[in-house]
Amino acid sequence: DKAGHRHFMAKEIHEQPTVSTYALAHYVDAATGLIRSEAEAVDFAQVDRLVLVACGTGHYACAIAKYWFERIARLPVECDIASEFRYREPPLSGRDAAVFVSQSGETADTLAALRYAAPHVGHVLSVVNVAESSIARESQIVLPILAGPEIGVASTKAFTSQLVTLGALAILAARQRGAIDEDEERRLVRILSEAPRKLSEAIACAPEIEAAAITLAEARDVLYLGRGPLFPLAMEGALKLKEISYIHAEGYASGELKHGPIALVDSSVPVVVLAPRDGLFEKTISNMQEVMARGGRIVLFTDAAGAEAAAEGAARVVVMPDCDPFIAPIVYAAPAQLLAYYAAAFLGKDVDQPRNLAKSVTVE
Ligand code: F6R
Repeated sequence: DKAGHRHFMAKEIHEQPTVSTYALAHYVDAATGLIRSEAEAVDFAQVDRLVLVACGTGHYACAIAKYWFERIARLPVECDIASEFRYREPPLSGRDAAVFVSQSGETADTLAALRYAAPHVGHVLSVVNVAESSIARESQIVLPILAGPEIGVASTKAFTSQLVTLGALAILAARQRGAIDEDEERRLVRILSEAPRKLSEAIACAPEIEAAAITLAEARDVLYLGRGPLFPLAMEGALKLKEISYIHAEGYASGELKHGPIALVDSSVPVVVLAPRDGLFEKTISNMQEVMARGGRIVLFTDAAGAEAAAEGAARVVVMPDCDPFIAPIVYAAPAQLLAYYAAAFLGKDVDQPRNLAKSVTVE
């Protein structure tokens, strides 16, 4: 049942404001405004390093969470794709906690990575959507994301619910490590709890996003740029576009542009910039100007302050709701998904069943 949408992917994108509240309700104690103590199965004060392993979209959720665990909890993080991790056989220690993130819980490489890590690390956690999956069964601690069945092959609501879950875990780790006090924990929980409402405001920009998507639909290549936690989101946006529209897309850290990818830029290559007005915004503006000077067409996703400062010269500007930088990668996920969705739908592609892809990758 597509609930009135043309595709499951559209339905699942629009479900995010609702579905993300399920993970929040599970991990946040509404009475105290703190992360629930049931989540305290690991004492992160006794952990020296977090190892985050996943494939595809789950890996980008991990790459975003790395910024949170490092910044909020001051916990060193190693983040890798499962297919590399399992064969690299990296050194692990009893003071490592390993977290395996998988929507299906059946991804062969992620399961193999878990089996490699389990005898060496202190704790094996999984962040899964399917609670009775193999990855869940083989982990000591299962953190459900509670996103409900995801039908569209391109992952959308699982991604934002993975982020909410990992965000809550980062706050918990910060408390246990003494990196934040109770007031700061309450403040961070309040910000994380704003994600569903902000997602809904972001989704309300659908008409502008659809117009921007038509700009992309005629391109052969598209670049996505972001800084900080929006850098992995740029890679996730590019993955969404390539998997459902078959347009070649790559995500880069904005600061890497001049180290190579800018050679690709001309008037035929749209550049999608994910840039709320944060501490690094001025740097991003100068990257945008470098693109525009070479005839590149900018599609800018920013907030009202960012649009005021930097809209000039951009081909398209989509004004996102104001939000705290902590949740920006969650809030900006929805427009990145919608951009890919509308481009693929405009091109008449099979959005829910893209060619060559399977929902659950149980072979390597
Ligand atoms: C992309 C996508 C894939 C999956 C990847 C891992 O939209 O859906 O990249 O994220 O195959 O799948 P899970 O999370 O089930 O392990």
